[in-house]
Amino acid sequence: MTLSEYQNLVSQIQHGKRLPSALYVFRDPSSSFGPALDELLQRVIERCGANESHNVIKFRLDELKVSFLAYPDFLEEAHPPLHQAITVDLVTGKTRHTEYADNINPPILHRKETFLSAHDPRRATFEALTKLEEKAGLYEETSTIGFKLNWERLLRSKGLVVDGHQLRQVTAADDAASAATDHSAPQIHRHKTALVRYDLSKPVKTMMEHGLLKKGSTIFDYGCGQGADVEGLRALGYEVEGWDPVHRPQTTKHEADIVNFGYVLNVIEDPAERLEALVEANRFARRLLIVSALIQETVAMDRAATFGDGVVTKRGTFQKFYEQHELQQFLEDALETTVVPAGLGIFYAFRDPADQQDFLAARTRRVVNWAEVSARLGFVRPGPRKPRWVVV
Ligand SMILES: C[S@@+](CC[C@H](N)C(=O)[O-])C[C@H]1O[C@@H](n2cnc3c(N)ncnc32)[C@H](O)[C@@H]1O
Repeated sequence: MTLSEYQNLVSQIQHGKRLPSALYVFRDPSSSFGPALDELLQRVIERCGANESHNVIKFRLDELKVSFLAYPDFLEEAHPPLHQAITVDLVTGKTRHTEYADNINPPILHRKETFLSAHDPRRATFEALTKLEEKAGLYEETSTIGFKLNWERLLRSKGLVVDGHQLRQVTAADDAASAATDHSAPQIHRHKTALVRYDLSKPVKTMMEHGLLKKGSTIFDYGCGQGADVEGLRALGYEVEGWDPVHRPQTTKHEADIVNFGYVLNVIEDPAERLEALVEANRFARRLLIVSALIQETVAMDRAATFGDGVVTKRGTFQKFYEQHELQQFLEDALETTVVPAGLGIFYAFRDPADQQDFLAARTRRVVNWAEVSARLGFVRPGPRKPRWVVV
């Protein structure tokens, strides 16, 4: 099946929640999406191991890709959390399984009625809640509400609670219940995570080796730490600025062709804020967002205490170590787009799918003599080379 044949079949589905890059539909044993799609789905389901618990199908609109999503509480919970996803690339046959059951900030659903067919009797209850939520201004800014903690924080900021499929004001009893479950965070010293670099960072080098940094491109380094990438790229002749909440708060954040969001996600202990930072960094990227984070197996760790979904180190910094595919899935869920792995813990999110296609079609990596570049930039490393990331 070609992409345009697939797109044509998906466009004939009359219901579902339609986003720019995907269509989400509820699925039960009686669902039908037309003979050709039903047959395709049946074949894919047999191969990827999806079953009746996968009650939502996500059809990608710009790629031959479908996901089978398990929302065990779809009917009972107003904003059910995702428990499992199986994503299948219909071209390569590759599948990716992601578990969310232990995720403290899983993706959740809104506007559930849109997932159901027009005559489904369950629509009315869901639609009534959506109307109330719209009226309360909960859908004015939607970039982060698709995640549980961010949604709960928004509700709290407006003094509201979703109870069953009703929206109501917070009561003293709700406050007491949330105070009882509040676990206060230890003091986290985020500023200590910004190491003095004696080199350009790996994501910046990777982007240059891939030839993505064109002459005249503007770059913004979001969460630039002490600014080695900013100074280094500037010395190489690029127009670059950097902002960091601790080390360069005075810079005005602004758009650029390329935004580097380097090793920031892993130092933020609050998963809701992590998402907000990612979404904001992405907003400034006109062509390309480069995201990097520490990957579990690349890090030596010494006696760190667990906190939330990461660890607090002896220096009082927080580190969340990702699995490579966990990071990819998080970025794709948060940015609602496909991201391209560029290295261990490094991903590219292209704004324009055509740029992504060009990159994938011609992916080549130049050999760069980084020792020579570092010497030219005057990066002098004191003493013998130390391992890059050691968490103590
Ligand atoms: C490990 S350092 C990485 C610095 C730099 N990008 C690099 O690769 O060398 C993490 C940086 O994230 C910054 N940071 C912490 N919270 C942030 C947030 N919400 N938004 C942006 N940066 C943040 C910290 O101040 C710190 O400088």
